Amino acid sequence: MSYHVGKDNLYLLLHDNEVLKDPKGYFNLIKRRSLNEPIEYITNSVSFYSREFFIKKGVLIPRPETEILIDKTLKVIQKFKNIKVAEIGVGSGVISIMLALLKKDIKIVATDISKEAIEVAKINAKRFKVEDKITFVKTSFLDTIKEDFDIIISNPPYISNYFEIEKNLTYEPKRALFGGKIGDEILKNIIDLAIKKRVKFLACEMGYDQLEPLKSYMIQKGVMEFEFYKDLSSHDRGFIATLRS
Ligand SMILES: C[S@@+](CC[C@H](N)C(=O)[O-])C[C@H]1O[C@@H](n2cnc3c(N)ncnc32)[C@H](O)[C@@H]1O
Repeated sequence: MSYHVGKDNLYLLLHDNEVLKDPKGYFNLIKRRSLNEPIEYITNSVSFYSREFFIKKGVLIPRPETEILIDKTLKVIQKFKNIKVAEIGVGSGVISIMLALLKKDIKIVATDISKEAIEVAKINAKRFKVEDKITFVKTSFLDTIKEDFDIIISNPPYISNYFEIEKNLTYEPKRALFGGKIGDEILKNIIDLAIKKRVKFLACEMGYDQLEPLKSYMIQKGVMEFEFYKDLSSHDRGFIATLRS
């Protein structure tokens, strides 16, 4: 209702006897929600890290647990000056934009295979006035990018292709959710890339059941220093690996 009339909740409370000018439009929104369409796609707005980001269908709705990835990463990079970051799979831009807002001397290259995601991330970077700190590139992983980076950060697709998702998730782009037959294939590619690119750190979000396979994979590849972290529901949710000092 607040979105439909373009007024805040206080206005609604103070005008409870006002007649709706466009009831049909309002009930159309209710109908969409009743069919499980996420409220964020209906209102083109998503709250993340206490800020309102633009979002639209075709781009993944950022989840609150990703705020933890940002906090863990900031803790690691805060002491470094002029840090160079690569984000793989920028989506709506929330990770790169929050890093750019919370760290002064930072330069970020953010990629995505989705044209829609790059468009939305650019709109959000402009909204938060950090366009000068982030370069957006439509590419897979870091293909076509020659630069070196201190850290790679990513919240990649990590659900198994065979997993039967809930109804509301069917509204979100498949290439933002599914990470391969097992689910951790893209994460493993990113670990390989971080080794190849000789970055100092790799920070990733992952599925709650991917700690053991990713830990074994990193050890097998010679990455010995890593710390896994949990989300607020105490599920394993990600890791920060140190690849070199
Ligand atoms: C789970 S979403 C994360 C979006 C955003 N970073 C966030 O945390 O909300 C994963 C993103 O990775 C993108 N993606 C999938 N495969 C990719 C690839 N090979 N290279 C770059 N981006 C990719 C998807 O289009 C999607 O936007």
